[in-house]
Amino acid sequence: MWRYFLPTRVFSGSGVLKENAGLLRETGTKAFIVTGRNSARISGALDDLYEILKVIEIPHFLFDEVEENPSFDNVEAGKRALLESECDFVIAIGGGSPLDAAKAMAVLAKNPELSCKELYGGSNLMALPVIAVPTTSGTGSEVTPYSILTDSNGIKKGFGMPSIFPVLALLDPVYTLSMPWSITLATALDALSHSLEGEIVNSAQNPLVKMLSKSATEIIARTLPLVREKQDDLILRERLQYSSMIAGMVIAHTGTTAVHAAGYPLSSFKGVKHGMANAMIIPSVFERIALSSPDTVLNAIKPFDNLEELRKFLDRFDIWRDKLDISDDEVLEWSTQSERAAHNKKTPGVFDRDFYINLYRELRGN
Ligand SMILES: [Fe+2]
Repeated sequence: MWRYFLPTRVFSGSGVLKENAGLLRETGTKAFIVTGRNSARISGALDDLYEILKVIEIPHFLFDEVEENPSFDNVEAGKRALLESECDFVIAIGGGSPLDAAKAMAVLAKNPELSCKELYGGSNLMALPVIAVPTTSGTGSEVTPYSILTDSNGIKKGFGMPSIFPVLALLDPVYTLSMPWSITLATALDALSHSLEGEIVNSAQNPLVKMLSKSATEIIARTLPLVREKQDDLILRERLQYSSMIAGMVIAHTGTTAVHAAGYPLSSFKGVKHGMANAMIIPSVFERIALSSPDTVLNAIKPFDNLEELRKFLDRFDIWRDKLDISDDEVLEWSTQSERAAHNKKTPGVFDRDFYINLYRELRGN
């Protein structure tokens, strides 16, 4: 038995915003635009949106203060601005940070008595409708019910509820052309991580999820080396955007594994980009899974023939170029946290504290 649920309407292609202006009008009467400092402007998405909102006569309020790895305080500031603005729908433009922050703001605005912390209680809360316009190709947040935020102790954690599936995902590959190579690489590796991890969790039980993850892994493996050589190729950019979205559809059903849990401290405390952190960790986690479930791993990593090939692929992008400066205390603290993460329950094999201690020591070179 299997199930699939995705309430997000997805539209893709060059000029998709202008072509679908009517859908924005259907969603609400005043738009709260959520973005970071740069990507919405540099990509051209914000200018396009302003033009469209003017034509369809929808007033708007701009909140452009989303940080990388948005904190609870950052989201609470957005909540206050959203409530004061009296907007009735949210348009998120950017990478995972603005999209995830916007989702949390949309729930908090609908439930103003709650704080960010209380989003993690497991309740299914209502939210304002969110429209997602991604400018990176990795997070998949445009089609997931998740939001990953950073708490007051600097720890990244995610919450999920059906109401934060975006109502609409508008994917224009043109908006991803301005991504520098470092962001293109990190976000694509996040998407690869989603498809590989999702298939480990799925273990071929859900044929639709399997089809999506297989396709996403293949496209990323084939396309990423080509994009490095031709970064202004719109067709290649479109393929990456598509693969990232379908990898998002995968984790919308499976969640992520020990790879994500172990990677979060590297981003929170060492500034490693989320996708790069995942890529550094994938081989070790998959080698561990292979100890107990070798066939599951071989199935999940196709088209890579084996883990050595997957490692070589990642090595082509200098994933392990710099050894991380991680103290003994950090190794122990992060290992305790990672061992407690709910992600381990979904990951086949034994992921105890010793595993994580060895993993973090390996990443620092001893
Ligand atoms: Fe991720």
